Amino acid sequence: MTPLLSLRRASKTFGKGRRAVQAVRDVSFDVLPGECLAVVGESGSGKTTLANMILGVFGPSSGELAFEGSRLPEKRTLAHRSAIQLVQQNPLSSLNPKRSVGASIRLGLDVFGIGDRSDRWRLVEDALEEVGLPREFRRRLPAALSGGQCQRVAIARALACQSRLVILDEPTSALDVLVQSRVLRLLDDLRRMKGLSYVFITHDLSVVRNIADRTAVFRAGKLLECAPTRTIFEAPQQDYTRRLIAAVPVIGDDELELRERLAGGLPA
Ligand SMILES: Nc1ncnc2c1ncn2[C@@H]1O[C@H](COP(=O)(O)OP(=O)(O)OP(=O)(O)O)[C@@H](O)[C@H]1O
Ligand SMILES: [Mg+2]
Repeated sequence: MTPLLSLRRASKTFGKGRRAVQAVRDVSFDVLPGECLAVVGESGSGKTTLANMILGVFGPSSGELAFEGSRLPEKRTLAHRSAIQLVQQNPLSSLNPKRSVGASIRLGLDVFGIGDRSDRWRLVEDALEEVGLPREFRRRLPAALSGGQCQRVAIARALACQSRLVILDEPTSALDVLVQSRVLRLLDDLRRMKGLSYVFITHDLSVVRNIADRTAVFRAGKLLECAPTRTIFEAPQQDYTRRLIAAVPVIGDDELELRERLAGGLPA
């Protein structure tokens, strides 16, 4: 199977000389079609730098990135930009506060020329529906939404662009635990339904436990180990990974379900 995304010995250095920071060092991995790859590591381990390289915010200092077997140029084509989308940590700041939710989603459709002009509002409403929001939310401003709803809009915006690879950079870290579990479930459902691939970035291993097929552990810009998520939890090879696992309060599915039942129909 041709990987959707490949990194080969990719590095990124910021600055020069003695002030140089090697944010990503000689990293190689693949993301397969339909796969969720988790990227975990402590603050400063290079996760967002990696995301920016994949998104084309900047190119690697050395090494190569490829999408569907072809080298990804530093200056991305429209097709690449629509195929690789980002969902950020802070849902409110990732949406323009002055633009309605619908207009934010529509912008991508206009830029990438998706659908007929006359049909685009319907596509926007379909995207809202897909992420579990009412179609009439199209007219709302981001300030009139909860954190979880804002994050759903950000997901709808990424999906409406017909993306195939979604980079999720701490997508649920700003949400409380119940809303977090619902957004995670939504992401998991959408991935299966649409055959999407995810690069799911987080500092919290417990978040990816149930949704990542494989997990890549980063430390100081280096890829320490990359294995099926189960293997990472049950037989980690590195001491650092063991410490990461030990550090997180792992909440099981049963506990989450119980909390959900006790909380009743809280808004997502
Ligand atoms: N634009 C930049 N210029 C200089 N140094 C940078 C830049 N961006 C990141 N760095 C440095 O690169 C390293 C990796 O940063 P990065 O933001 O990728 O980490 P991270 O794993 O995303 O951390 P966090 O979990 O806190 O988001 C850090 O030492 C950071 O200070
Ligand atoms: Mg980061």
